[in-house]
Order: sequence, then C-alpha cells, then structure tokens
Amino acid sequence: MILRTFSLSKFFDGLKALDRVNIEVEEGKITLVIGPNGSGKTTLINVITGFYKADEGKVEYKGEDITNKPPHELYRRGIVRTFQIPKPLKKLTVLENLLIARENPGEGIVGALTKAYIPKEKESVTKAFEILEFLGIEHLWDEEAQNLSGGQLRLVEIGRALMSDADLFVMDEPLAGVAPKLSHDILGRMRELCEMGKTFLIVEHRLDIVLEYVDKVYVMASGRIIAEGKGKEVIEKPEVVEVYLGA
Ligand SMILES: Nc1ncnc2c1ncn2[C@@H]1O[C@H](COP(=O)(O)OP(=O)(O)OP(=O)(O)O)[C@@H](O)[C@H]1O
Ligand SMILES: [Mg+2]
Repeated sequence: MILRTFSLSKFFDGLKALDRVNIEVEEGKITLVIGPNGSGKTTLINVITGFYKADEGKVEYKGEDITNKPPHELYRRGIVRTFQIPKPLKKLTVLENLLIARENPGEGIVGALTKAYIPKEKESVTKAFEILEFLGIEHLWDEEAQNLSGGQLRLVEIGRALMSDADLFVMDEPLAGVAPKLSHDILGRMRELCEMGKTFLIVEHRLDIVLEYVDKVYVMASGRIIAEGKGKEVIEKPEVVEVYLGA
C-alpha cells in the first residue's frame, strides 16, 4: 500500500468530521471515496494532504508516518492534491499556471550559477504543452485564467497536478463541471498513468461516469467509512443506498 490511514479522526467543535477512518490506497490504482454532502470526504483529503491537522490517528505514506506534515513537505515526498474549487492565479495565463506548479530549480542558488535551469525550463514548457494538448485546452495556453469557464478551470487544475512529478494524486471532485466525453478521456488517461506507476485517490460525485475506471471504492457517511468494495456492487449495498436516500 502506498498510503494508509489508521483510525484517523478530525473534530470541529464537537462535530466528528472524520471518525476513526481506515483506508488503504494501493500503488498504481485508482481509489475512489464517495458519500453524501458533508460526509467528510474533503476533510479526509485535507487531513491526508496536510491542510488540516488530525486530532487522532495516523497517516502512513510509503511506510513512513506523515501525520500532520505540512503540504509542502508532502509535495516533496510525492503527494500532490487538487481542490474541489479550482485555485488558479487568475491574472496568469493557462501556461503560466502550469509552469508555476512545478518547482523551478533555477530559483536555487546552484541551479542559477550553473544555468541548469535553462534545459529544465524548456523541458517544463514542453511538458506543459503536452499536458494542455491532452486535456484539449492547448488553444487556451495564452488566456488569463480569469477568462476561463468552470470546466476549463477544472482542467487547468488537473494540468497543474500533472506537472508535478508526484506519485500520488489526491483529487477532490476532479470532474465536476467537465463534460462526459472529456471526463471519460481524462479517466482513461488516469488509467494509463496508473500503468506507469502513478496512484490516484479521488473524491467524485459522478458515479455514472467514474465507477467503471476505479479499482476500489470507499463510502463515507457522517465521518465514517460505512462500506467498501470493488466497483458497482458497492453502491448497491443496502447501507449505501440508505445513506444516499437519506441525504
Ligand atoms: N473548516 C471547517 N470548520 C468547521 N466545520 C467544517 C470545516 N470543514 C468541514 N466542516 C464540516 O465537516 C463536515 C464534513 O465536511 P466535508 O467538507 O469534509 O464534506 P464533503 O463530504 O466533502 O461534502 P461535499 O460532498 O459537499 O463536498 C461537514 O459537516 C462540514 O460542515
Ligand atoms: Mg467536499
């Protein structure tokens, strides 16, 4: 397992947003977390990726304890996340938003002295264009982020994550606002990335689209994992049907 949580809990003024959550994320696979609104999915991502501190429990990544490590340290270790609401820099262009997502060695003193940043920077631009082309937004490379539609912003958000050399991608509703055809394309590409050893932990509401692509599903309700399984059969479990009908 590349990532594991052990009895992970997070409280907000007495509310158990996460209540002893145990999940396992297998390397080279797509793990999906679903659940009704307010069930704790984003909180789980926030605690795993260091944006919130856990109150109890533990997170292990590649066998090491990473509980409550800050996001930048987790990024260095190979974990990158995307947000439910995309957070691009609005005055920057699409290309610039991708480029700044990648750590620039030219900013380090050694890199600056040796000019090692020149090939790296060229390589980054090439990589950015490859990603934009894949996401079907290459023509928007020069557009300021503030002029993009919601769906296009979502793609920029995914593009920023792909710019990193991360091993584990943690994505909060990556397909919200993305048209079905493109959503299928993106999920297909995620599967290709899995074959290259990348790992995805995603939260997604659009089960009709996403279920066929994922290896493992966890269902949350009121901060707890109430069911887990391999795919479509999970959402047919009575306890899962019940929380969705109740919501
Ligand atoms: N920063 C916070 N302060 C106080 N309460 C919070 C905070 N973040 C989340 N919560 C509460 O924790 C619970 C879980 O919220 P969370 O955002 O994790 O749900 P979610 O499953 O991501 O929902 P959605 O599907 O709507 O995105 C909710 O009751 C929410 O109001
Ligand atoms: Mg959420």
